[in-house]
Amino acid sequence: MGSVIIEKMTKQFGEFTALHDINLEIQEGEFFALLGPSGCGKTTTMRCIAGFEQPTSGKIKIGEKEVEKIPANRRNCGMVFQSYALFPHMNVFDNVAYSLNIKQLNASNPVKQLGIYARLLSKRLGRTPKDIQEKVMKILKYVELDQHADRLTSELSGGQQQRVALARALVMEPAVLLMDEPLSNLDQKLRHSMRNTIRTIQQDLGITTIFVTHDQEEAMSMADRVAVMDKGNIVQIGTPTELYSNPLTPFIADFVGTSNIIDVEIVEQINGTIKLKGDNFLLQSTNTIEKKQAKAIIRPEHIQVLPYDTDVNKEEVNVLEGIVLMSTYLGPTVRYDMKVGDQEIIVDTTYSSGISIFEEGRKVKLSIDHGRVLLI
Ligand SMILES: Nc1ncnc2c1ncn2[C@@H]1O[C@H](COP(=O)(O)OP(=O)(O)OP(=O)(O)O)[C@@H](O)[C@H]1O
Ligand SMILES: [Mg+2]
Repeated sequence: MGSVIIEKMTKQFGEFTALHDINLEIQEGEFFALLGPSGCGKTTTMRCIAGFEQPTSGKIKIGEKEVEKIPANRRNCGMVFQSYALFPHMNVFDNVAYSLNIKQLNASNPVKQLGIYARLLSKRLGRTPKDIQEKVMKILKYVELDQHADRLTSELSGGQQQRVALARALVMEPAVLLMDEPLSNLDQKLRHSMRNTIRTIQQDLGITTIFVTHDQEEAMSMADRVAVMDKGNIVQIGTPTELYSNPLTPFIADFVGTSNIIDVEIVEQINGTIKLKGDNFLLQSTNTIEKKQAKAIIRPEHIQVLPYDTDVNKEEVNVLEGIVLMSTYLGPTVRYDMKVGDQEIIVDTTYSSGISIFEEGRKVKLSIDHGRVLLI
């Protein structure tokens, strides 16, 4: 059983509280991401689960077992670090086989242990048993490194080293795979392809995976569910679409994708529509809110840019007047910085050839569905 349950976990380092009352329930087979800015407590949470750090209070359960008193090497967690932590003097095969050898060493009688020590010290004194050889080669094939089994890890590319680290964790058949920023040393293109590799392997094996990142795109594209952390607290847990469409706070709206976060005053509420006043412009929203002052969250891609002379029915959608401050061509999209009243707003539009880009200084109309103006 590879579920992970954390109840009321707190971690203090002296006077400093790194984790405040964390609660998490991660299902067996789930790909779960911890997302948050630097220093919010992601690694500390992982280290507590793996057993490298002892929580100050609270409970951790892996499967049916409470693990507080179980040492790290018996928690059945595989860990992949940002730095990979490979042995540079060993080849790919030996890096992956190493933990299996150690496991066998711990379980063997003294005579057998001598043989294993000899094997670990020098490959010439004794051969790797068949069962270990088969396991290692199977997993190396899986991460497409079977052709490089004899290469020293110091001779591999970043992506290949990353896959050795993954293979080394997976070969132990852990109940839970913990990955702490495993892709942050890779270049953009390799990150994308490794995301797919990791996700595919995780799905194939059905292994419970906790993935730490401060890259929202990485978390959103890979995980079944994401917990957003801020200053040692978990501030929201949800599927990527839930977090994107219903962020609970401006911090989450800003962290999970790009958002326009606009201070508004509630003017009146009629028939399920709220009239709002921004900085020299008016808006309407079909969301509900009980406050007088609120933040309106509008995603850049939910705003349509139209030529100024377009006739739009103001009853059905928000129609705002805007001036283009800057346009940035990004290939499939064009990003506009707009001035609306005294507010600056970001707008993303899809670009297709033949469509002209609104130039800087141009007056335009912006249309936004009432339902796309989220109030927090
Ligand atoms: N051993 C320690 N002693 C004292 N403070 C620590 C220790 N380990 C972590 N901290 C503090 O706890 C907080 C959380 O650290 P943690 O490493 O969990 O952050 P993180 O979310 O993983 O950040 P990053 O994205 O930069 O890796 C930080 O303020 C950090 O300085
Ligand atoms: Mg960290």
